[in-house]
Amino acid sequence: MSTRGLILSGLGLALAASAAVASAAAPAAEGKVLASSQGCIMCHAAGGMAKPLSSYVGDSDRRLEEAILDPNKALGSATMMPPFQGKLSAAQLAALVAYIKAGGQ
Ligand code: HEC
Repeated sequence: MSTRGLILSGLGLALAASAAVASAAAPAAEGKVLASSQGCIMCHAAGGMAKPLSSYVGDSDRRLEEAILDPNKALGSATMMPPFQGKLSAAQLAALVAYIKAGGQ
């Protein structure tokens, strides 16, 4: 490879690395917006019917995904939480999980 080619590919790697850092922070911020727009915080807020989202910070990603998509299965049929299966894209679900794992504040 020419010197010019090496410099260009090194630049590409640096750009890819900084994009990865930016997108790691973005989903949690998007999740915060979704928690409001999807109505999560109507129930999951201090004084609401369910515990604040911050209280689930220690749950596994998988547990959170299952609880959000199919609460009747994950939490029991008596839960008042509505299923979000089919209402959230995979990216939106990942953003909500990232938001909860980041502390849900
Ligand atoms: C109509 C009220 C309501 C809405 C809206 C709602 N939830 Fe829930 N949610 C509940 C209740 C009730 C529980 C079970 C009791 C509890 O944990 O306080 C629950 C439980 C959960 C759990 C269970 C965690 C665990 O391991 O026990 C998660 C995660 C969760 N909700 C996230 C969400 C997210 C994210 C949204 C929005 C996309 C949402 N909820 C919308 C009422 C609601």
